[in-house]
Amino acid sequence: MREVGVPDEDLARIEIMLPFAALANTVPMLFWLVCHVFSRRELVERLRREVQAGMVVKPLHSEGGNQTTSEVGGEEGGAEVVVNVAAAVVEEKCPLLMSCYRETLRRTVHQVSTRTAVQDTVLMDRDGREYLLKKGSVVQMVIGAGHGMEEYWGEGVDEFDPERFLSRKGDGEDGPGSSKAMKTAFQPFGGGMHLCPGRAFAFAEMMAVMATLLLGYDIEPLEGSMWELPAFATRSVIDAVTKPANHGEGFGLRIRRRLGWEGVRWKYEL
Ligand code: HEM
Repeated sequence: MREVGVPDEDLARIEIMLPFAALANTVPMLFWLVCHVFSRRELVERLRREVQAGMVVKPLHSEGGNQTTSEVGGEEGGAEVVVNVAAAVVEEKCPLLMSCYRETLRRTVHQVSTRTAVQDTVLMDRDGREYLLKKGSVVQMVIGAGHGMEEYWGEGVDEFDPERFLSRKGDGEDGPGSSKAMKTAFQPFGGGMHLCPGRAFAFAEMMAVMATLLLGYDIEPLEGSMWELPAFATRSVIDAVTKPANHGEGFGLRIRRRLGWEGVRWKYEL
């Protein structure tokens, strides 16, 4: 950008966007993922087994299952647990975790993508009506609209379904819940030239935290055992991921090290 004459002050303005883009979406997305997963006890157990078998690189002492013995990392000087957070590994070995991740993106990304029409362009809707976008006009596309349409996702579109992305109909099929419908409607990182460049980084960060929390920690509500998730805040045009109402005020969780995993030292690889 310097080569084409962008002044330092503008470069700084552009760069300050990066920490904003990096934190403003990953943090609330992780917040919702933790809430959706840990508020379902049975789901947590299934994910623990999946993550332990699929993402832990160094074999742990006992075979398969849910290992919570002091062999792993009791009080002091516990074992080192290496977790692989590469997308290809999670996709292949942890389909349920992947489905929860995608379902959380579906429920929480309400991004408005903005583009400028570089030439006169005619769009046609499914009823055959045509719309002319004049060259130079600004187009705003509400990604979240497709994430909440029953015609793409089928019944229960407003519910968090941990298995939604596991049970896609085959490639050749059409209609709600099919791979084709979901592919059309699911655009959590935008698309084209401005597709989010931080998506793989965000994924690795979130998988590292999730694998650690699932294996090494118990999470429960502060008061009693009932989970009441906060509502969504009013959506902002700037954020891709919708934040909890009132900045999550009044909502708290207790996070404790899991018995037998207290002394674990965590390592991550891609
Ligand atoms: C869950 C996390 C994230 C979500 C849901 C998300 C989503 C998005 C979306 C929807 C866009 C707009 C794409 C479009 O207009 O087509 C975008 C753009 C962008 N994101 Fe992300 N993002 C996330 C994390 C990150 C991280 C961690 C970084 C940086 C480390 C990042 C950097 C950017 C940048 C620089 C752009 C602008 C790209 C451009 O205009 O060419 N994002 N993101």
